[in-house]
Amino acid sequence: MTRRLGADTLVIATHNAGKLKEIGALLAPHGVNCISAGSLGLPEPPETGKTFVENALIKARAAAQGSGLPALADDSGLCVDALGGRPGVYTADWAERQWFEGPPGRDWYMAMGKVEGMLQELGASTDRSCYFACVLAIAWPDGEQAVYEGRVNGTLTWPPRGTLGFGYDPVFVPLGDMRTFAEHDPEEKHGISHRADAFTKLVAEQFAG
Ligand code: IMP
Repeated sequence: MTRRLGADTLVIATHNAGKLKEIGALLAPHGVNCISAGSLGLPEPPETGKTFVENALIKARAAAQGSGLPALADDSGLCVDALGGRPGVYTADWAERQWFEGPPGRDWYMAMGKVEGMLQELGASTDRSCYFACVLAIAWPDGEQAVYEGRVNGTLTWPPRGTLGFGYDPVFVPLGDMRTFAEHDPEEKHGISHRADAFTKLVAEQFAG
């Protein structure tokens, strides 16, 4: 039987204030008080895993051990079937500019173009199926852990469309829709996203009943 969180303080293994706010709002109705690993001065461990599960666990375990409190981490990315699941855990890295590509930082248009270029090299009839994956991992200081995996299936379109969202949203069309995620208003996207799927599973196991 999976261990459950009580009405505890939960450390969110992120240094991103936006992520803390989003996750905090989702868990507040369940009596969980969220604080970020960043506000506790905990270092960010290197994400050396080969899978989303491994990376989420690395982050959750580091935060639980560093704080002595249960910790929650997420890891997410885009997996393209015809590219053998790439960029996968390297989704954010593919947006990182090389020194010859301009000032340091992430360029999402370049990253979307990289994926599109690889698909076009495979030929016009290449399968454009893909999915966004999100893994949520909870780690307790004594080593116990729980993992929840969410996904949303879709296809890649080109050129990018829409101005909402972030990352690869302008090229991702969820299954059964014509619009990209960047053409969905945030509320609508949050209802069907990989993150929503993983959170639904977490809430069902951790807080239901
Ligand atoms: P991480 O989970 O913070 O490591 O982020 C992985 C990367 O996956 C992000 O930087 C985004 O580029 C991409 N990603 C994850 N979720 C989404 C999404 O909902 N829309 C677009 N891109 C996403």
